[in-house]
Amino acid sequence: MDRITIRKPDDWHLHVRDGAMLKAALPFTAKLFARAIIMPNLLPPVCTVKDAEQYRNRIMKALPAGARFEPLMTCYMTHDTSPDEVEAGFRAGVFTGVKIYPANVTTNSAAGVSDYRRIRRVVERMEKIGMRLLIHGEVIDPEVDVFDREVVFIERELEPLTRDFPGLKIILEHVSSKQGVDFVRSRAGQVGGTITPYHLMLTRTDWLGWGNRPYMYCAPVIKTAKDRAALRAAATSGESNFFLGTDSAPHPVKKKLDVVGAAGLFNAPVAIESYAQVFAEENALDRLEAFASLNGPRHYGLAPNAETITLERSAWTAPGEMKVDGPEERALIHRGGETIPWRVVT
Ligand code: DOR
Ligand code: ZN
Repeated sequence: MDRITIRKPDDWHLHVRDGAMLKAALPFTAKLFARAIIMPNLLPPVCTVKDAEQYRNRIMKALPAGARFEPLMTCYMTHDTSPDEVEAGFRAGVFTGVKIYPANVTTNSAAGVSDYRRIRRVVERMEKIGMRLLIHGEVIDPEVDVFDREVVFIERELEPLTRDFPGLKIILEHVSSKQGVDFVRSRAGQVGGTITPYHLMLTRTDWLGWGNRPYMYCAPVIKTAKDRAALRAAATSGESNFFLGTDSAPHPVKKKLDVVGAAGLFNAPVAIESYAQVFAEENALDRLEAFASLNGPRHYGLAPNAETITLERSAWTAPGEMKVDGPEERALIHRGGETIPWRVVT
């Protein structure tokens, strides 16, 4: 199969940032995706209905002329998040979900959650009103190995949460391990999992085995070939609880290359093409549409898109970087300079 037409995809996990970076990065997503779940980890974070409305307006203003794109906003969970604020935002159609960042787990997460008892009233309310909970599933504990953060989070926090709130729909974001895949599968119907293009393609040997490649550093970190195989099998299985979420996360080059480098891969310019490549390699192109365009809307209780896009097997070279106005200058593009075997033709 050298050509495939699928319903227009959505990105169920995206960082578009703000200001000049928003202006530069958003067009890559708005061109090929109809909707995206917008991550709230700005500084300061998007915590209130008003914050989200204002951020949504800035996103709409940053869209290229004529673009049709719907940002789906999320609320950043803190120990002070109010159930009433969350419910009001949900009922007003401003908040699609609430996002949990464990405190200090990644970029701009200092205001996140460290004591899960303190958010129970919010979670209870979300279960009651049918609102989705999005989770960055990693523990932050110096005793826990960085490669085990996801599996220990599942044991300590996520498994109990699914038991205590059986009616709550959860998304385990950027699943990165075989155990994560197994857990999502074991909670089919309740828990969905997004999978990034880079966790489907890279191993930690790519990242660290031939010199340290700081632009492959992300949270959760890239894991082993065994984990990658489990992720590829899950994404291409057609199972409805696995769906597309790029976690595209641009950073200025100097932050990626700093002594303490920032986590995140800017992959929006190559995302759908990279997923298509993975599905072709796995002989599963007939299941790309389920993963990219159907399973996500179903988990969120939304209708799939009516428009389509067509991809063709036809090589092109990914640009190395994206220019950004002002002092942030530029962001490196994931797979920049690589030959990408698939391209979007319409
Ligand atoms: O690698 C990551 N980058 N993981 C996250 O969870 C956040 C993101 C970012 O905002 O840069
Ligand atoms: Zn993210």
